[in-house]
Amino acid sequence: MMVRALCSSKTFSLMIVVFLVAVIVVLMALSQNEQSVRNFKDQSTKNVQYFIPQVEADKRNRDKSSQESMTGQVQQHALNPKDGIDNSGALCYLIYYADSFDKTSEFSGVDPNNPDTIDKWWKAAAMIDWYWNSPVEYKCTDIVAVGNYDICQDSRFIIKPSCLVYSFGIDFRYSFDDAMSNLGCEVHSFDPSMGVETHKRANNSTFHNIGISHSNNDSFAPRLDKFVKTPQEWKMRTLQTLMKELGHEEKVIDVLKLDIEGYEWTVIDNLIETNVIKNIRQFVMEIHLVHEWPPKADYVHLYQIHTKLREMGFQKFTIKPYSKVLVEGYYANQVEISFVNVLFQPR
Ligand SMILES: *[C@@H]1O[C@H](CO)[C@@H](O)[C@H](O)[C@H]1NC(C)=O
Ligand SMILES: *[C@@H]1O[C@H](CO)[C@@H](O)[C@H](O)[C@H]1NC(C)=O
Ligand SMILES: *[C@@H]1O[C@H](CO)[C@@H](O)[C@H](O)[C@H]1NC(C)=O
Repeated sequence: MMVRALCSSKTFSLMIVVFLVAVIVVLMALSQNEQSVRNFKDQSTKNVQYFIPQVEADKRNRDKSSQESMTGQVQQHALNPKDGIDNSGALCYLIYYADSFDKTSEFSGVDPNNPDTIDKWWKAAAMIDWYWNSPVEYKCTDIVAVGNYDICQDSRFIIKPSCLVYSFGIDFRYSFDDAMSNLGCEVHSFDPSMGVETHKRANNSTFHNIGISHSNNDSFAPRLDKFVKTPQEWKMRTLQTLMKELGHEEKVIDVLKLDIEGYEWTVIDNLIETNVIKNIRQFVMEIHLVHEWPPKADYVHLYQIHTKLREMGFQKFTIKPYSKVLVEGYYANQVEISFVNVLFQPR
């Protein structure tokens, strides 16, 4: 009952609806083959959007502020990440998650603005879920869909030649890569799971039979999942090494795309550690918390990575929720999210 009082009724009913959608997704996943699951995933993205008032709110904001963009003025967001990030709104999620996953929990010590108190997997999951459902931080006035991702074409962040794009996780779907190439960008696509050799795709577009990781490894053994069904050996490189090998050491990556099925967390950690993150202007990705991947024992650390990314200046301008399962033992949550780097310093 406390949950109803603290979370707005809208949020609460939204959670129920998302939960029902998630149950359907799980049932579908159990009864269908892989391909139809993938199709359903694409479709469910569209359906879930109807239940997210924020998507509508974003659209309205876009219309409202389009006049400002016509004056050519750069829209600044009020929040400077260096001045701290306000997470107070997450309290309602923490209470909801405690109620769902840890009824014995004592709440008095939990402070969404004090990372030290986020010390259990479900607290970390609640904080991340709250952020994924909170309003966008950067109100982009010109959101453009490229393939299945959104980029921001506000003058401050505009992507135009001579732009450089790195895209990880293809699975034979090149719509994003080809759209960026058609924009005139130099595009590098990477996916070691397809069994396709490195080749030139077009004049300014190359496919690489290499994956991104937190360390260089010539014989990485990926975990088996719906995309990797037999044991394989992949060539993996850090982004820092790839940029060096491709002669982009001094370059800026205009758009970095990650769709790497749960491996993104350690990669983001590595981008921050190696400081490569500072050279990225827009960052679009799928972020996954699927059942036990990454393991729940890592969630507190994942939350810290998530927070660091925000503190480095990455503010979301669009977010599309996928399925969410808020059931003990089956917890899962996944989104497609686009960030601009508001602390980016042109060289
Ligand atoms: C290839 O991309 C580079 C970097 O964006 C750009 O300078 C160059 O004009 C492009 N070349 C072609 C043939 O599109
Ligand atoms: C690549 O560029 C060359 C020279 O500019 C041009 O003749 C050729 O048609 C281009 N190929 C593709 C696939 O765009
Ligand atoms: C490379 O990958 C293999 C298999 O996944 C792993 O056992 C090994 O520890 C990795 N090496 C490095 C240097 O990360």
